[in-house]
Amino acid sequence: MELISRPRRLRGNSTLRKMVRETRMDKSTLVYPMFVMEGTGKKEEIPSMPGQYRYTIDRMEEKLSELLRAGVQSVMLFGIPGQKDEVGSGAYAQDGIVQKAFRKAKEICPELYLIGDVCMCEYTSHGHCGILCGQEVDNDQTLEYLAKTALSQVQAGADMVAPSDMMDGRVAAIRRVLDKNGYVNTPIMSYAVKFASSFYGPFRDAAGSAPAFGDRKSYQMDYHNRREAIKEALLDVAEGADILMVKPAMAYGDLIREVKDRTDVPLAAYSVSGEYAMVKAAADAGFIDGVSIMCEMAASAYRAGADIYITYFAQELAKCMEEGRIG
Ligand code: PBG
Repeated sequence: MELISRPRRLRGNSTLRKMVRETRMDKSTLVYPMFVMEGTGKKEEIPSMPGQYRYTIDRMEEKLSELLRAGVQSVMLFGIPGQKDEVGSGAYAQDGIVQKAFRKAKEICPELYLIGDVCMCEYTSHGHCGILCGQEVDNDQTLEYLAKTALSQVQAGADMVAPSDMMDGRVAAIRRVLDKNGYVNTPIMSYAVKFASSFYGPFRDAAGSAPAFGDRKSYQMDYHNRREAIKEALLDVAEGADILMVKPAMAYGDLIREVKDRTDVPLAAYSVSGEYAMVKAAADAGFIDGVSIMCEMAASAYRAGADIYITYFAQELAKCMEEGRIG
């Protein structure tokens, strides 16, 4: 058979396959999301996320040093407060759970890069991501609270803040407050393209942050929309976002690619709790090879255009990268 082009020639052995590989991954791009809670001496497994835990502050160290040993250098912290109220006071309290966690993490692992998720849903009694006016989340009033929350996290030791609330104008509001307080060099990673997604289910179990009524569709995006994703991304760049994020990752590869092509800032993809839970559950049932699927999902996010990958599998992925299984 006369064939000019034989793509199989470049697949003949693993050295060659690696030589011509188009997507390279590195441990330095992994971010691990971690839950911290009030109390002492506890590490509680999250039922819908086997292998993931909520840590009290005195138990954080074991996980943080494990991550560092595996080569994961960035952590995103989520706080679960002891008490919630209408205006999410715990989100911006000087001695709030996440502020205490940032101080402690800085002290025990100063080489870790710490990112703060800025939102109110873990801290409000109604579970919505902002301040309510009747049954609606009031956008402009919420901005003030988000800015306060971001500032309190940075003052406590966060190296970067990541607003995940989806209010309009929040990147600008946070930038203004950080700058006014001298934090001109603290980057903002915006959850710019964040969809109203059922993939967040296990996270809401973990953080007890499911909305008490209604849903998040009046602020998070409708998953039928593509052009709106570009609109959100460009708006956040204009407001001063240093890094953009697309979330979830697995079912949104088209948008990771499109945002990547249309903007010139680094791009993060967040492989969310439901993605983790599905892989774990199917692997534990013996239906799939969990480690292989984890690697394949990671490669697809990077191939789509992600520069940064936020994942509950960060530590396991770092191991696979170390062993040369992917990367
Ligand atoms: C806070 C926030 C959520 C997630 C990240 N930040 C929950 C939500 O929007 O309901 C989800 C992360 C995950 O599912 O892993 N707003």
